[in-house]
Amino acid sequence: MYTVGRKNYTVVAINTASKAGEWIKSRCGKHSNIKTKLSSHDLVTEVDKGCETMIRNLLLTYFPDHSFLGEEGVEVGPEASVKAVDSIQEAEYVWIVDPIDGTTNFVHGFPFYSVSIALAHKGEVILGVVYDPVHDEMFVAEKGKGAYLRGQKMEISKENELSSSLLGTGFPVQQNALTTNLKGIQALSNKVRNIRTTGSAALHLAYVAAGRMSGFWELELNAWDIAAGALLIKESGGEVTDTKGEPYQLCVRNVLATNGLIHQSLQKELVSAEATGF
Ligand code: IPD
Ligand code: CA
Ligand code: CA
Ligand code: CA
Repeated sequence: MYTVGRKNYTVVAINTASKAGEWIKSRCGKHSNIKTKLSSHDLVTEVDKGCETMIRNLLLTYFPDHSFLGEEGVEVGPEASVKAVDSIQEAEYVWIVDPIDGTTNFVHGFPFYSVSIALAHKGEVILGVVYDPVHDEMFVAEKGKGAYLRGQKMEISKENELSSSLLGTGFPVQQNALTTNLKGIQALSNKVRNIRTTGSAALHLAYVAAGRMSGFWELELNAWDIAAGALLIKESGGEVTDTKGEPYQLCVRNVLATNGLIHQSLQKELVSAEATGF
């Protein structure tokens, strides 16, 4: 486990995700004060904000010299998000947090949302935790040490054909990204076994790591949606790039994440459908 002196990053991250997850689950259906961000498809509640504050306080109590990047602390819109990620690239240690990934699901009581917590060291993710409080599933990865679910090492799927692959994607909140993503969905839907869009990018990534899906792509995500899930996939033997095939970094927003075996063929399909984004 990642330790510095006697401080154990992994245990703190797991405990924090667990506390945050229990709290959001207890607030599901009882929240109020729903606001919109970029558009009417992009929601935020007082629970998103409260949860981020709780996570921030817990992490920084243990690690006061670390930096923190959370979705609700960044101004709305892609420019602010790109700037915020740029500003932490060089940071020694930075926690990258999505307090509720799947706010729309949370608001509607659709039981598929998660807490995503990653720790990056000088721009490289070294720890990733995605917690689904509804199903009590804690997905954990440490760089170089594998990825685990309930103490069991996760195995990536072994599908090597698109035709037998189950994929995940999303409906991005930005209109032009949505239009482009729909081209990918249309091109792929009769070439793969099926496509799921369940509304939590972090959980989709965790499901790829756990072998429940063979691949996932989505446009215009943010570092807090992807960072923890990307490490889960890498550590369970999969591959994460941007949709153009460039290696994953914190600044990647158009993500392609697979079991590795279908990576090239999926990427090729996105290119030929002109669905890789900008
Ligand atoms: C959203 C979810 C969703 C994805 C959106 C994200 P949020 O995050 O990950 O699956 O399609 O693009 O913004 O806003 O619920 O944290
Ligand atoms: Ca959001
Ligand atoms: Ca998110
Ligand atoms: Ca969120």
